[in-house]
Amino acid sequence: MQLLAYPRESTALDGEWQAIPDQYEMFRDYFDDFVEDEDGDSAALPDEDGQPALSFESIYEPSASGDDDITDFNIYDGYSMRVPSSWGEEMPEFRHFEGWMWFARTFDRDEIEEDDRTFLRFGAVNYKAEVWLNGERLGEHEGGYTPFTFEITDHLQDGENALVVRVDNKRYEDGIPNESTDWFNFGGINRSVELVSVPESYVRNFKVETTLSDDAVDVDVSAWIDGGATADAATAEIPELGVESELSSAGDDRLTATFSLSASDVDLWSPSNPKLYTVRVEYDGDAVEDRVGFREVSAGGGEVRVNGESIALRGIALHEEVAGKGRALGIDDVRTRFQWINELGCNFARLAHYPHTEEMARTADEEGILLWEEVPAYWDINFGDEEIQELYRQQLRELIQRDWNRASVALWSIANETDHNDETRNEVLPQMADYVRDLDDTRLVTAACFVDETDDGLVLNDPLEEHLDVVGVNEYFGWYYGDADDMKHFRDDPEGTPIVISETGGGAKWGNHGTEEDRWTEEFQAAIYRDQTEAAAATEQIAGISPWILFDFRAPMRQNEYQRGYNRKGVVDQHGRKKQAFHVLREFYESGRLE
Ligand code: GCU
Repeated sequence: MQLLAYPRESTALDGEWQAIPDQYEMFRDYFDDFVEDEDGDSAALPDEDGQPALSFESIYEPSASGDDDITDFNIYDGYSMRVPSSWGEEMPEFRHFEGWMWFARTFDRDEIEEDDRTFLRFGAVNYKAEVWLNGERLGEHEGGYTPFTFEITDHLQDGENALVVRVDNKRYEDGIPNESTDWFNFGGINRSVELVSVPESYVRNFKVETTLSDDAVDVDVSAWIDGGATADAATAEIPELGVESELSSAGDDRLTATFSLSASDVDLWSPSNPKLYTVRVEYDGDAVEDRVGFREVSAGGGEVRVNGESIALRGIALHEEVAGKGRALGIDDVRTRFQWINELGCNFARLAHYPHTEEMARTADEEGILLWEEVPAYWDINFGDEEIQELYRQQLRELIQRDWNRASVALWSIANETDHNDETRNEVLPQMADYVRDLDDTRLVTAACFVDETDDGLVLNDPLEEHLDVVGVNEYFGWYYGDADDMKHFRDDPEGTPIVISETGGGAKWGNHGTEEDRWTEEFQAAIYRDQTEAAAATEQIAGISPWILFDFRAPMRQNEYQRGYNRKGVVDQHGRKKQAFHVLREFYESGRLE
């Protein structure tokens, strides 16, 4: 169960760390060879006066690089590297480095507001991490975009503590994503690192679910308590509504309570009214609060609904990237992309292709922007491999348990452009859709799929459709194939599974002008947006669109003269300069033609 850390006081470990590249992946074995003693345990090798001259532990000791030390590196005397950061943006010499990078820093126990138990939390490390504290191995994590924690209560020592993280950002054929993607592989401790201290028994996480009926709003609160059951019950409170209730055991690992409220007393969350309430859960002296919007999402008959009202999803897709910062966004960067999203007139955004920083969903809650969130099960994943399936579930679980109180999150997407003719994929992905619903059945499950061109026109022919609440369709008519208005030939089924055009668009280099026939010009891209948006407006089964993409982003396979390492399908370039297509989309949304 993810630790709900955001609302808690914590000790930030962000700032200057030491980092050393280990491109040949030798430093670990190097010390293993030197330190294996006769019974094979890691031990220090004595020097002439019997003191440890060199040991595996020595790379964890700040004194490791004594003058007479023969070690070839000391991770306490490496390159100064800010955390969080993407190392290739932080240090140009590492711009294309893919491999092992050893990070280290020390902290003093007195810096921690220490309670009974202390956890070390990483917001995200791309792609694998292995962590030691004071020479003790805490564990490892795989997945570049979701948070993970280790309990360090029994590893803390008085005074100085030495933290070491081995980051590996190589791309793996059995990874999620695997080694082939259309985005840049920014290695690093890309999000914040913090120490969270809690009582012996504490509220690990809690989840708020809203169910609407004619004149009532039921707010269900489930809480997960970690540590010995020291108190009879937990309590949940919604102070603004003046209600409080004890939570009782649900017969599994949860404590639950339901607030049955009069609809007239509750201000429901919606994009037009992003009302948030403080929900507070207490257990035996421990208390944690979160800001939650009460709303219900549903889908069917070609519609997506919020609180029972059909809503047209006026969206845009975006990666998590900032020129010069990679994936290590600050709150100002989050606010900038919401300025563009609001300027476009959006009420919806697709956070592609992996979990973005949790600040995005928290800001979307405040701004009234519905979100599509996803894990990077992208292109040719080997879905039949059981270890990959376990990693898949792990990443889904880490995302959902992080953001399940975010009213803005309306859709969980389980995959992007996977082969709908692959039997294994068609067996495994429905299982993943079920797994998502086991974790959270209050949101819509989707995936970005393809349409097929047939003699009858364009048809949705993906067996996954029946397992989805909403089908995402990635189509590039007018760019990769066909004409931009070909979607008008889509076999529209107004009563069918609602469709979101989860990708459409084309490339343009900002400032490159010509006619609408000249590929890579702003005029060519703008013409695609005009035709594609009109086609979407004309198709009843299309409940929304999130054109690809808000801003140009780094993509190693995009190397022609207009791209030079960037995917240029943004309606804004990487410097924030708007292209003509930005205004075409903005005018379309303002016109109200998408309904
Ligand atoms: C693909 C893919 C995106 C990619 C885009 C493109 O469909 O989902 O990740 O960037 O199309 O071709 O630009």
